[in-house]
Amino acid sequence: MIKKGIILSGGIGTRMSPLTKAVNKQLLPIYDKPLIFYPLSILMLSKIREILIIVNKGQLNQYKKIIPDGKRLGMKITYKEQSKPKGLPDAFILGKKFIKKDKVAMILGDNFFYGQSLSKMLQDCVKIESGAKVVLHRVTNPENFGVAVVEDKKIKKIVEKPKKLISNLAITGLYYFDNKVIEYAKKLKPSRRKELEIVDLLNEYRKENSLSAELIGRGGAWLDTGSIEDFYKTSNFVSAIENQQGFKIACLEEISLNNKWIQKKDIKKSIEFYGRCNYAEYLKKIIS
Ligand code: TTP
Repeated sequence: MIKKGIILSGGIGTRMSPLTKAVNKQLLPIYDKPLIFYPLSILMLSKIREILIIVNKGQLNQYKKIIPDGKRLGMKITYKEQSKPKGLPDAFILGKKFIKKDKVAMILGDNFFYGQSLSKMLQDCVKIESGAKVVLHRVTNPENFGVAVVEDKKIKKIVEKPKKLISNLAITGLYYFDNKVIEYAKKLKPSRRKELEIVDLLNEYRKENSLSAELIGRGGAWLDTGSIEDFYKTSNFVSAIENQQGFKIACLEEISLNNKWIQKKDIKKSIEFYGRCNYAEYLKKIIS
């Protein structure tokens, strides 16, 4: 069972400039909460309670203002700074001391997942014994993504931004690895764009036929919030669901309570922390 997770929450956010000149992308709002709440909630729904958040050098204080250490959520949340964006596999080099001898999940700080049976799928994914697993989602524009060719839930081939249609299953930003990931990440060489590439890391597992896939079904949504358009699309999605159903997506305290990591009385501290706002009103409803 995977019990540790990393959120890769640095990056320059070039496509979202000037919004990202002073504030990191993952601290910008998706409707009523910072983007980082959504990937954090995904790890929490996977029952992962020990989390390392990797942030850009110099931005740690901003993050700590909103998510200090996980105590209020009954979790252990720690941080590590990345000196510059060296690529996604850098997470496992920076996270070596956090991972120790364990397996680990990794989610990109700008990825949004939602849908029916998602919690069940997430809790199945953390059960991997060895090897690695990626989460796939069907898309209509595979030419914009890294895609995977799958046979019997095993990945046979990965192609980055394919010019010819080879598969319409995009590799999302949610991954699960056994402990070999540290060793594999250390061996990688930077690519032409001078970054360590996640595809190269995944290919190490594929070569030994230990890279498996989990597919998000048609009832599930995956949105990559990299551009301003995608940001607003995701905000509108969250607003539509929350206002229609009256439930919040990614209410961290609610997930902790459901996971029995905290009790109703603990939520009072969060209500005080957030102050008079819609999110705190929702928390009040949960405990009334
Ligand atoms: P990207 O979308 O590749 O980069 P970015 O968020 O900086 O945006 P842009 O392309 O517009 O410049 O990154 C995907 C996610 O991974 C995002 O949440 C930032 C994070 N990231 C890091 O934290 N460290 C890294 O070294 C890289 C490459 C990405």
